[in-house]
Amino acid sequence: MKVAIACDHGGFNLKNEIVSLLEELNIEYEDFGCDGSCSVDFPDYALPVAEKVANGEFDRGILICGTGIGMSIMANKVKGIRCALCHDVFSAKATREHNDSNILAMGERVIGPGLAREIAHTWLTTEFTGGRHERRVGKITEYEAKN
Ligand code: RB5
Repeated sequence: MKVAIACDHGGFNLKNEIVSLLEELNIEYEDFGCDGSCSVDFPDYALPVAEKVANGEFDRGILICGTGIGMSIMANKVKGIRCALCHDVFSAKATREHNDSNILAMGERVIGPGLAREIAHTWLTTEFTGGRHERRVGKITEYEAKN
């Protein structure tokens, strides 16, 4: 699995935490910035990751900002992206099983690093269940194809 990861200034510390997790799990990743706590605009970091996941260059993406909200709104504008904003482990597991989400968004100002690591670990290791959920995800893809 290849993961693209990015953050804005509000998510910089948590991104470093999740990069460490990816290294511990031996998951291939590329870090698309930002590189510090200087103020930047989250769409500039969400879009490259979302586009690279949508075009198949990367299997999954992880986006982190202050709340995770801006990143998830931007990422979900890209066709083929199902970005899930998760701040609990239950949702991280459910969104992989039910929605086949391909990007995880989290907010550094919302949760601590320990919980964020658990959420990311769960999201990275949970498979899509398929079945009835496949039909539902298919309806999203169908809508995107028509618009
Ligand atoms: C930046 O201050 C903050 O607005 C951003 O990190 C994010 O929370 C936006 O949704």
